[in-house]
Amino acid sequence: MAGIFCDNNNMKRLFESYKDYFRFGAAVSGIILLNDTEKAELYEKIMTRYADFKKNFKPTPEVPEFNYPEPEPFPKGRMPDYELAANQFNLVVAENDCKMGKIYKAEDTFDFTGPDRLLKFAKENNQDMRWHTLIWHQQTPKWIFEDGKGGKASKEQLEERLKHYIMTVGARYKDDICSVDVVNECISDKNYGLRDGNEHSQWFDIIGPEYIDKAFIWAKEAFPKSSLVINDYNLEMFEGKRQGMYKLVKGMLERGIPVDTVGIQMHINIENPPVSEIEKTIELYGSLGLNVIVTEMEISAYVDKDFEHPDPRREYDKAFLDLQAERYAEIFECFKKEARAGILKDVLLWGITDRMSWKNNFPVQGRTDAPLLFDGEGKPKPAFEKLCKD
Ligand code: G3I
Repeated sequence: MAGIFCDNNNMKRLFESYKDYFRFGAAVSGIILLNDTEKAELYEKIMTRYADFKKNFKPTPEVPEFNYPEPEPFPKGRMPDYELAANQFNLVVAENDCKMGKIYKAEDTFDFTGPDRLLKFAKENNQDMRWHTLIWHQQTPKWIFEDGKGGKASKEQLEERLKHYIMTVGARYKDDICSVDVVNECISDKNYGLRDGNEHSQWFDIIGPEYIDKAFIWAKEAFPKSSLVINDYNLEMFEGKRQGMYKLVKGMLERGIPVDTVGIQMHINIENPPVSEIEKTIELYGSLGLNVIVTEMEISAYVDKDFEHPDPRREYDKAFLDLQAERYAEIFECFKKEARAGILKDVLLWGITDRMSWKNNFPVQGRTDAPLLFDGEGKPKPAFEKLCKD
């Protein structure tokens, strides 16, 4: 594919390399869209949290002394993620700013600062924007599950609040959002049925399993032109969870519920899963006539056995970076095959530079990972070169 386009700093563009297959997007942290004053205020808050973490630190055999690096202040002016987000992708999603907890402040009080900021950015850079996420068991405002009199909200009260939220968000963004994660992470990790209150889903406990069907019916009304997605993690990792989602969406289709896409998060690592499992997952949902999108991909350096290895200061040598590049390239060949088969529509990475990745604080606070295509300074890694080859 001669003559890959170069932007003003002669860098190839990821979305151009895959435009004949799928949209190529990334999660944008609201932090990169903040001005310097706002960044300084957030840094203060983060330092407060770090100080608490340090004060409450308890030595363990693995980590006998506190050696977690102090968070660095955010660079002044535009961060490397900003330019890369603007130039390398034709699809963006908010890493956190479109979550209910950031928006739904009270019964009829909404703060759309974050989503508006990202939509403005997307329009300025001729990008599509997707919505992550209307319903999740995390980052959801506490008040919504309460009756305001010290008790739990009733089923009717919570359903009314949820419908009001979906309709209000839809009214504001329905013409600008290409796809919506209507429900996020509703499959149980324990029994691969539906996640309930034992796994933090008050949606299930208060409304019942029908909260999913109702949410999709309301979302169809609110976002008539957007594709409606059910999104989850480890579908590509565990057969049981993959089948749990299959059973759920098959039932929804039989009940005429307007789900049209399964979102596979793809938080994977340098060894697992094998590409054959990823292929099987995409084709399983494709066999139901559903579209599939990869919503939150990254390839962590930490494999299952050292998933919680505490060593915060790990160097990433050429051997690791080349292996990671091979793995990204192998998986993207699978994506091209599934796009040609008409199943896979979009691929999004969960972040842009390694410095800003959530994997630097999960599952071990302050442990540096290197899961993405650009290093901490925004320099392209071998994986970028591999994916952008002519
Ligand atoms: O907004 C507060 C800020 O006010 C406060 O000062 C600061 C203190 O550190 O915390 C900020 O909230 C953080 C938020 O990210 C915004 O940066 C939360 O503590 C932190 O927990 C939250 O982490 C996000 C996480 O979801 C929450 O569960 C990660 O950035 C985000 O990458 C992650 O994304 C999820 C997807 O939504 C769903 N799939 C899994 C994926 C990874 O967990």
